[in-house]
Amino acid sequence: MKLRISSEHQRHIGIIGHHIVHSLSPAMHTAAFKKLNLDYDYGVMDVTPEMLPNLIAAIRALNFRGANVTVPYKEKVIPLIDEISEEAKMIGAVNTIVNNNGRLVGYNTDAHGVYISLAYYAEEIKNNHVVIFGAGGAARATIYAVAKFFSPKRIMIVNRTLDNANVIVDEFSTKFRLTKFFSTSENEVAAREIEVAALLINTTSVGMSPSVHLHTLPPLAEIQKDQIVFDIVYNPLETALLKLARTAGARTVSGIEMLLGQGAKAFELFTHNEFPMHVAREVVIKELMQSRRNIA
Ligand code: ATR
Repeated sequence: MKLRISSEHQRHIGIIGHHIVHSLSPAMHTAAFKKLNLDYDYGVMDVTPEMLPNLIAAIRALNFRGANVTVPYKEKVIPLIDEISEEAKMIGAVNTIVNNNGRLVGYNTDAHGVYISLAYYAEEIKNNHVVIFGAGGAARATIYAVAKFFSPKRIMIVNRTLDNANVIVDEFSTKFRLTKFFSTSENEVAAREIEVAALLINTTSVGMSPSVHLHTLPPLAEIQKDQIVFDIVYNPLETALLKLARTAGARTVSGIEMLLGQGAKAFELFTHNEFPMHVAREVVIKELMQSRRNIA
């Protein structure tokens, strides 16, 4: 199929990143456009860091409707756009850009993805203990969403590099007064908190295909049967962490919920239409099954 870019109507959208191996966003959004009969196209824009400013200029020049942003540019696009939402500012990362009559506005829909993934458990999370593995960009969006929408009593960040976790603890402690933030890189300390937490969340890439046997749970820690365990990794659909959780009798939330949730919010920002969730879920699961077959 020939690529035909036109600047006349705002019909182009795409994902910006580098070394994008297999993004599910094009299939997910394209299926949603098709379902609602919307005249948009969605492509992959894989550029080197030096090319990023030129790509943003091209998005303006060609009157794109917007873009999603993935690794490694969620922070790097910020100085290149005109405005960012309060939420994206607090998280420190943009994953969605909307072109409003030539003004590029940045949002972070990952936080909404986390909210959607955990909303069913809101009452259980409120006033309770949460353990979050990781202290990168995904962790920031996750911690922001959990603190903002569910007001837990404590959030402990478990990360191999303590300094990275401490930066988040310092920053978010002043922003969310109902939650106490802690950090550790010690297995024993983490294991004790894991035992009493209502919710465990992995925000690192540990366990992602092809390293499917890895997980972030420290050696002495055990998942309890009444806990909720959420892994933002969605490939494989059931990560090693989620398998442990299921075996322990815990409730599990797959990363696919966050993928769909962030996609839904981005879709609504782009098109002002409600995201056809069932269609998108079907396509994403099909793509993941297909990629599993390709790897096997
Ligand atoms: P992202 O923006 O996608 O979250 P990132 O900023 O590179 O990615 O952050 C990745 C997080 O996963 C970090 O907290 C990282 O730990 P460090 O702060 O110590 O680097 C964590 N992480 C990545 N690979 C890991 C591994 N193999 N074991 C433990 N933690 C890991």
